[in-house]
Amino acid sequence: MLSPKHVITSAPGKTILFGEHAVVYGKPAIAAAVDKRVYVKIEKREDKKTHVTVEELGVSGFLNLKEELIDYNNGEYKKKNILEYVLKSLIKTNTNDGLEITINMDIPIGAGLGSSAAVTVATIFSLSIYNNINLTKNEIAKLAHQVELEVQGAASPIDTTLSTHGGVIYLSNNANKIIKLDINTEIPIIIGYTSKRGNTGKLVESVRLKVEKYPEIMNPILNSMESITKHACKALINRDHEKIGELMNINYGLLDSIGVSTEELSKMVYSARKAGALGSKVTGAGGGGSIIAYCPEHVDEVISFINKFENAFKINISNEGVRQESK
Ligand code: PMV
Repeated sequence: MLSPKHVITSAPGKTILFGEHAVVYGKPAIAAAVDKRVYVKIEKREDKKTHVTVEELGVSGFLNLKEELIDYNNGEYKKKNILEYVLKSLIKTNTNDGLEITINMDIPIGAGLGSSAAVTVATIFSLSIYNNINLTKNEIAKLAHQVELEVQGAASPIDTTLSTHGGVIYLSNNANKIIKLDINTEIPIIIGYTSKRGNTGKLVESVRLKVEKYPEIMNPILNSMESITKHACKALINRDHEKIGELMNINYGLLDSIGVSTEELSKMVYSARKAGALGSKVTGAGGGGSIIAYCPEHVDEVISFINKFENAFKINISNEGVRQESK
């Protein structure tokens, strides 16, 4: 079969509902794919060079596949790093030079919403179609996780699993065991994010230092986070709104106690509750990034209240993972 002239695929971002940080210590977590996507378009280039543009970030550059180098045209330093995920994805799929890659994203970068995993998963899927290679979803998820590990040094499989398969997952105590939760109905979540970015690696390290310094204080906190996630799993399945909200609030208190909240995040968390959310908490690594608010009601009030000083939007769970877009 001839390679198609161009391929467009997309993959969703994610949000962690319960269990961030504790998951690093083998505790369970619950996370969901969201209906905010990254789109990757691949076209042939006649000059045998490989060029990538991430339109919303104003970042672009030429990739040198042989020497594994990136020659940046432009872009702010912190945002450029997204091209490394594209470079590694090309190398992992043994792709040859001669491609124009255009990336569009409705996921804010560095907000803990899994933008890098979505870019990686969609790029690998686009490349597999373009190169006529059949990859199963499990193979895409595995390759994408390897790319994340190579670029970041450490990464849980949560982001790449959700970008590939979609849905809601329960990552059990055994970190390799991922159970897809059968939650078909909408989970009413609002995301609030600050333009201040958190650094996942540094935050995980700061928690590790506290666990070492105060094990008898920190271990019970991590155990409580584990119990919260287990209760939340049942509450989500039963759609017990009050309980989900309450568990989010307890979880937030614990995340604050281990030092991963910030003034901006805290302001969003409490504003959301004041405007009618049943619960709210930091989502992801913290230190900047995002909060989630559980809002079976008062959606507009919560969004407009947070929008006065930061950014907020409603999300739906995406049951669809990576997919090919119509041409
Ligand atoms: O902010 P994110 O999406 O990178 O989430 C990090 C979640 C942690 O539990 C803090 C780390 C991890 O690898 O699970």
